[in-house]
Amino acid sequence: MNERSVLLTGASSGIGRALALVYASQGVTLALAGRDMARLEAVATACRAKGARVSITRLDVRDANATADWVTQADGHAPIDLAFVNAGIGAGLEETAADFGPTRMILEVNVLGALNTLEAVTGRMRSRGRGRIVLMGSLAALRGIPGSQGYSASKAAIKALAEGLRPQLAQDGIGLSLVMPGFVRTPMNEDKGFPTPLRIEPERAAQIIRDRVARGRSRIAFPLPLVWGTRLLALVPPLADALAMRAARRGGTGV
Ligand SMILES: NC(=O)c1ccc[n+]([C@@H]2O[C@H](COP(=O)([O-])OP(=O)(O)OC[C@H]3O[C@@H](n4cnc5c(N)ncnc54)[C@H](OP(=O)(O)O)[C@@H]3O)[C@@H](O)[C@H]2O)c1
Repeated sequence: MNERSVLLTGASSGIGRALALVYASQGVTLALAGRDMARLEAVATACRAKGARVSITRLDVRDANATADWVTQADGHAPIDLAFVNAGIGAGLEETAADFGPTRMILEVNVLGALNTLEAVTGRMRSRGRGRIVLMGSLAALRGIPGSQGYSASKAAIKALAEGLRPQLAQDGIGLSLVMPGFVRTPMNEDKGFPTPLRIEPERAAQIIRDRVARGRSRIAFPLPLVWGTRLLALVPPLADALAMRAARRGGTGV
């Protein structure tokens, strides 16, 4: 796969930052977006040091017009080969039945924000009949997690969108990969007080994602023991609830 022009939301931190760095090299153009310009600038500097051409944009993905403008501009500058719909919030935010505010915000960013990006990128790629889109899901999609119900719901929505859109986009020559990581050490789950079994570093996650995207994988779920563990737990709802509530009492849950 030819990845000469790569677009990334949520590039200022965590997995997005690591992905920007793993794709950065001579001859590659990176269009990076996030909200924190200082952190974005630091990522851009590191990517330029590896030879990439980099543009950075302050963007809130909830703003559909701004997202469309950014994608159009980036695509006009260097037609996008690969787009990461990565920006997200939530694992670690306190979600309760007493206050649905955090749950609403998570859905706005993780689902509607992703949809804004997806719509804009799909429009550009369809006109050329090529490209690949990578949607950032989570293993949290496999089961509603007490205390992280909005986060789980947002990632279940991403999973369903990916599965439904993939065959349609394929007809237009566009590939789609769904990434479902377990725990990755990022500010989203760092020092939040909940257990993070089998957590890996963002650099390792970025390498896994890059390798499997290059092979055209439609679903990229890792690490394998957690994938199977989560699937098994989903088959035994009372056990899953008991474990999740125990984790929630210790400070929250979420991947
Ligand atoms: N870490 C994990 O264990 C894990 C596991 C599974 C899936 N994921 C998913 O991986 C993705 C990246 O998460 P991460 O762990 O790397 O978290 P992170 O370090 O907190 O990074 C989140 C990124 O999303 C951006 N973002 C948040 N809200 C935004 C908004 N409204 N508009 C534009 N950008 C926004 C942030 O930008 P600013 O900081 O500049 O605002 C930041 O660059 C998320 O979709 C997350 O759900 C993470």
